[in-house]
Amino acid sequence: MDLMNKYPRLTDLEAPAARRIPKFVFAYLDSGTGQDHAKDNNRAYLDGIELTPQFMRGRVNPDLSTQIFGVGYNAPFGVAPVGLSSLIWPGAESILGAAAKAHGFPYILSTVAGESIEMVAQSAGKMAWFQLYAPKDRAIMKDLLRRAKEHGYQNLVVTADVPAPSRREHMRIAGAPLGSRGNSSFTPRVIWQSMLRPEWAVRTLLNGGARFRNMEPYAKQHGAGQITKFIGEQLNGSLDWDYLAEIRKSWDGNMFLKGILHGQDAARAVNLGIDGIVVSNHGGRQLDAAPAPLAKLAAIRAAVGPDVPLVVDSGIRSGLDVVRALSAGADFVLLGRGFMYAVAALGKKGGHHAATILLEEVRDVMAQLGLKTIDEVKRLNR
Ligand SMILES: Cc1cc2nc3c(=O)[nH]c(=O)nc-3n(C[C@H](O)[C@H](O)[C@H](O)COP(=O)(O)O)c2cc1C
Repeated sequence: MDLMNKYPRLTDLEAPAARRIPKFVFAYLDSGTGQDHAKDNNRAYLDGIELTPQFMRGRVNPDLSTQIFGVGYNAPFGVAPVGLSSLIWPGAESILGAAAKAHGFPYILSTVAGESIEMVAQSAGKMAWFQLYAPKDRAIMKDLLRRAKEHGYQNLVVTADVPAPSRREHMRIAGAPLGSRGNSSFTPRVIWQSMLRPEWAVRTLLNGGARFRNMEPYAKQHGAGQITKFIGEQLNGSLDWDYLAEIRKSWDGNMFLKGILHGQDAARAVNLGIDGIVVSNHGGRQLDAAPAPLAKLAAIRAAVGPDVPLVVDSGIRSGLDVVRALSAGADFVLLGRGFMYAVAALGKKGGHHAATILLEEVRDVMAQLGLKTIDEVKRLNR
């Protein structure tokens, strides 16, 4: 059956993803924190946004193209950074990088993804952006930025909203050995869950298991035994305002700060030379009382002025949500889980399928609203 008829919405891919990857891996992907209030509230906030159409505007052929810092993209959305994405589905980074390149939207590679800066430069080309969790060791930070620069990355996204690992209760209940607390022992339960998903298990073994190719060279240099422990020591809670200023000095491309929810933080970042803000609550994975990012957009816009790009993520699952976020004040939108469910469910075909659904949906919603351009979408409620 045609994929688009079988899975016409991104959310149709969640159940097949759960059937194709081990329970503890799905728990890692799907998890919020605490009671999942923040995660659910991201959805509730989006679902509450209504768009009132106006009619008789003639034939509409929506143009989805948009610009960030003078660079054109074919869509107003991109792929959010997802750590350990190769463990969710082996090669997920290249699959999504290739889809991003083919369709012309950004793919943001996580510091703690499975594939490296160098590998994703190959698959995503100019659509590759790099997300930095600031390593305690400045030499590692500078070397990561050097590698990104040398491989053509022009946009850096520094993540601020993981001051410490959060409690992921679903992962505990599923027996997940993952996480940045340095615990990576493989229990019989995890091995059993993996054996129930033979295709995933074989592909994961062939792919070298849980790899952190960006960080592996430094773990070796530091003589670190366990890579997860080394990563936890380097990346947990090392970012402060002084360090952010150091990173700004070390990177001469565009720089976003990700995970911001407070106007004061956004304004301080912009004063420090940050070019754009990613307004996000990490998909509801860090603090269960965190507000929905869209609820904070007006305050952040007021704090930074009209010209700073505001990118929004957390809870976006459809083209309709993309349009809702843009109409609520976002300049650009990211999806984390939505793309990953598609890859977990469909493997290689997942990136292209997710992109096709989202592009079609955005086009459809714009046509229903009689809007021709992304700028018109952004002006809808302003
Ligand atoms: C499994 C998973 C891993 C993530 N890893 C990272 C990461 O390494 N760096 C980062 O900045 N954000 C990370 N995030 C947060 C995403 O970039 C993004 O903010 C979030 O997924 C948006 O919410 P959504 O999943 O509802 O779209 C991760 C999210 C998920 C679901």
